[in-house]
Amino acid sequence: MRSYSQLTTGPPSPATLALTTVPAPSPSPTGTSLLLRITHAALNPIDLHLLLNLPAWLPFRRRPTPGFDFSGVVLALGPAVPASSGIKVGDRVAGSLGARQVALGVGSLAEYISVPVGLVAKVPDGWDGGQAAGGMGVAGQTAVLFARTIGEERVKGARVLVNGASGGVGVLLVQVLKGLGAGWVVGVCGGGNEGMVRGLGADEVVDYGGEEARGEGGLEGVLEGKFGGEGRFDFVLDCAGGQRLFERSVGFLKEGGRFVSIVGGRSQGVVPFVRNKLRPVMLGGTPRRYDLLAMMPSGEQAEVMKGWMEKGVVKEVPVDSEWVMEDVIKAYEKLETKHAKGKIIVKVAA
Ligand SMILES: NC(=O)c1ccc[n+]([C@@H]2O[C@H](COP(=O)([O-])OP(=O)(O)OC[C@H]3O[C@@H](n4cnc5c(N)ncnc54)[C@H](OP(=O)(O)O)[C@@H]3O)[C@@H](O)[C@H]2O)c1
Repeated sequence: MRSYSQLTTGPPSPATLALTTVPAPSPSPTGTSLLLRITHAALNPIDLHLLLNLPAWLPFRRRPTPGFDFSGVVLALGPAVPASSGIKVGDRVAGSLGARQVALGVGSLAEYISVPVGLVAKVPDGWDGGQAAGGMGVAGQTAVLFARTIGEERVKGARVLVNGASGGVGVLLVQVLKGLGAGWVVGVCGGGNEGMVRGLGADEVVDYGGEEARGEGGLEGVLEGKFGGEGRFDFVLDCAGGQRLFERSVGFLKEGGRFVSIVGGRSQGVVPFVRNKLRPVMLGGTPRRYDLLAMMPSGEQAEVMKGWMEKGVVKEVPVDSEWVMEDVIKAYEKLETKHAKGKIIVKVAA
């Protein structure tokens, strides 16, 4: 079986990946697992995070295959897969693997994988495998988590700012917000992506690299100027990582509004989380509610995305580019630029 593994020599990076042969999973899955023939995988920044930062002693480093998102065809069911799952041999399914499975070196960039049935949902009719992997994997499930965190009822009529609206999560989140009835959605992205983000339903777009945003007041000054006072937002959803955005959010986020971020990591994350969440206002804290989300993949969240794709809440999964397995290093190099326009897909097999 072919999969992408990281070579044990050389510094960790996408460039040290290699197409390798590894033993295929058992043709008879155990317990509640499914054996899948993968047709497509989709890439996420977390893949790079694991490739670059996991310590050498973890199994991921010994025989690692990266990749969380998948879509594929069910070849066999474990004996404990409940009939209530509705999953049969031959079904097309998609979802995201759990972090433990990927950290153990059994990611989705492989021809065959074994996946717990609780992590998959069926691919909606009319959607191809690439869009399903991109839409029902990490990015789509994160959009579900955002909607649940806010509360679907509170989305209706709300004014929402999405920072990073042109990325994998942002392109889905903008559609979800508008589809669930948000009153006014403003997307922040690079200038070249304005048309795409408007096409996904954003009512207004702000270019974080535009002339005004490069001025003294920065992006935050632009937002305060355009959306201050009565125009302030109910929610600021950060998919790009803006500590300054939070610290200056008083100017464009209502009192009682919420700043919800998904961006963590070594330089952002724990420190801002503690500071943003716990520092009292009298000690310089920002007087706005701050939440940092961590998405745990599940078939139930993939199912919600499936429903939204069927109902037209999500009308498209913008695909930045689709690559064949042999070119997966180039696909990761594209991801590494942090300027993908939507999802990066790898076609594993037909
Ligand atoms: N906590 C969680 O559970 C969770 C889940 C999923 C993702 N994440 C994290 O969320 C982030 C976004 O994920 P993704 O899949 O959407 O990433 P992505 O596809 O790589 O998208 C990155 C986007 O960020 C935009 N961007 C870059 N610099 C920016 C700036 N200064 N201001 C505003 N936008 C900027 C880019 O827009 P332009 O090309 O237009 O410049 C690009 O479209 C990543 O850090 C990821 O690790 C966290």
